[in-house]
Amino acid sequence: MSEQIDNVLHENRAFPPSKDFQSQARLNSFEQYQRMYAESLQDPEAFWGRVAQELPWIRPFDQVLDWSDAPFASWFQGGQLNASAICLDQHVANGRGDKLAIRWEGEPGDRRDFTYRELLEEVGRFANVLKARGVQRGDRVAIYMPMIPELTMAVLACARIGAVHSVVFGGFSAQALADRIHDGDCCAVITSDGGWRRGKVLPLKQEVDTALATCKGVHTQLVIRRCGNEVAWDEKRDVWYHEAAEQVGSDCPPEAMESEDLLFLLYTSGSTGKPKGIMHSTGGYMVGAYLSARYIFDLREDDVYWCTADVGWITGHSYIVYGPMANGVTQVMYEGAPNAPAENRFWDICERHGVTVFYTAPTAIRAFMKWGDQHVKRHDLSKLRLLGSVGEPINPEAWMWYRKLVGGDRCPIVDTWWQTETGGIMISPLPGITATHPGCASLPFFGVDAAILDLQGNELGPDQGGLLALQKPWPSMLRGIWGDAKRYRDTYWSKWPGKMVYFAGDGARRDPDGLFWILGRVDDVINVSGHRLSTMEVESALVSHPGVVEAAVVGRPDELTGEAIVAFVIPQGGVTDDPLVIQALSDHVVHEIGKLARPAEIRLTEALPKTRSGKIMRRLLRDIASGREQVQDLSTIENPAVLDQLRGKKA
Ligand code: WTA
Repeated sequence: MSEQIDNVLHENRAFPPSKDFQSQARLNSFEQYQRMYAESLQDPEAFWGRVAQELPWIRPFDQVLDWSDAPFASWFQGGQLNASAICLDQHVANGRGDKLAIRWEGEPGDRRDFTYRELLEEVGRFANVLKARGVQRGDRVAIYMPMIPELTMAVLACARIGAVHSVVFGGFSAQALADRIHDGDCCAVITSDGGWRRGKVLPLKQEVDTALATCKGVHTQLVIRRCGNEVAWDEKRDVWYHEAAEQVGSDCPPEAMESEDLLFLLYTSGSTGKPKGIMHSTGGYMVGAYLSARYIFDLREDDVYWCTADVGWITGHSYIVYGPMANGVTQVMYEGAPNAPAENRFWDICERHGVTVFYTAPTAIRAFMKWGDQHVKRHDLSKLRLLGSVGEPINPEAWMWYRKLVGGDRCPIVDTWWQTETGGIMISPLPGITATHPGCASLPFFGVDAAILDLQGNELGPDQGGLLALQKPWPSMLRGIWGDAKRYRDTYWSKWPGKMVYFAGDGARRDPDGLFWILGRVDDVINVSGHRLSTMEVESALVSHPGVVEAAVVGRPDELTGEAIVAFVIPQGGVTDDPLVIQALSDHVVHEIGKLARPAEIRLTEALPKTRSGKIMRRLLRDIASGREQVQDLSTIENPAVLDQLRGKKA
């Protein structure tokens, strides 16, 4: 990339929180933020030591941070705790057992509610089922499920017995699931017969069966009955959850986990190579998730909180399961699509359940805009008091629509920047303090030493676009990449030699007021609907098709999904106009990775533009894919004749 990123967005609108919101917020003065922020950087031991003590530890920690083996951090050494006990037991012990924890709604309209006490019982039972199947502390368990309460239970049950969960989003293909099960060396998989999506059953168990044909290390497939669809059965390996649950009790004491014991693996795409198993450990992650949820969502006892993400992504881990539950909130959970049965489903849910805090993604907001204002206007959303956005830069137009239509021009919007790797929100407005601006992620959260650096590691001045860097370790930071310590160091901590600084892979700028504006990825990662996909993985998927010689994949801007995948493919046996060829290639990518990776467009070509040294000229392809004028120097191109073909051929 070029050294500096051009910044074309000029946004001057500002929306301070209302007096009313401010007066009731957990944090409501800028001076207080500044004081706390300064302490969190200058004396992290004192700051985090104090915050951590708000959580119940089984054994107190001896030391807040050990960074002597950087970039391998150890937080809250000597301490023992259990994440499920923090999410459940403490609330029951503190007299909040009858408080509603989950208010769930299935896509067909069925409902289930769980109080904290009920959830604790269910999780205890679930944990005992896992134990009865021989799952032990330290074992990895893959979870591949729809958004039903058992998904949250499965996650917390693993945490309870000290097993490491590896949740794989239900939209991934059998092949992608198998890769992740292999890489994490999982011994069990938790799934369901199916899940509802736009009135159809997604056959999840069937996908797992396909995956498990190549995963011999998996001794147990635990199956929740959700849709009643027909499933194949392996008597030795497969277990119905409802049958196994009858054989066990609900009492399961939480394992005392060391602070640095692994809590979960979550796979994410990088710019090269296979997906990375991002490692998160227990103590630091819980402290980070707890505090960020509390202050950024300004959580209060009577809130009805709803995060529309899937638990299969980091947003669901940190802001459906661990963060909100550590704070003892009441939350809504929904299984299905936002337009099932109609485009007003989300607003209908908000109205019926009296949602007060709502957290969603820009891609969803853009879909709502497209579907039309009338679906929102039909509903009484006056209970809403705070809105959030995550996953990709939110364009000012969508931000304004969100504020006006959903937020009634009264709710602050927290545009939260973070990553699977950071574990929790890193840059965000604090809703009772910050005057928000459309498209602005605003201020670093406590303990986050964010800076904009150039390629040499120099800090850039106001309004200069550069690379977003985090200059200090933070509690919920990733602890590594599963099985690949070198890749962890190389990918995240080696961008600026001689400096132990975290490279996020995003471009950003800081305005003269010190606020951060995120500009998007600078590496070969495409952000489709807020989901990170590596160009490299999609290329590998294409090339694994016998009919493909070579492929190059780039992102182009897309109104709805933020970015869309465009693939340039050299087919075996020459270019054809046959739509079936393109369909087959597209299906092949879906088979290898999942529906989320289906290319928006595939262009067949006889050659790819390359430099004389043989590198594919991706920037050029990006321009071609998005129909931009090529202003680049084409003198280094080895095969200029290829350009016309690339521009002309459309799938
Ligand atoms: C992007 C999701 C702009 C960014 C929590 C980051 C954002 C990647 C924002 C991480 C935001 C996330 N504004 N960009 N508010 N939030 N991103 O790992 O490029 O799925 O690096 O974590 O999403 O995606 P991931």
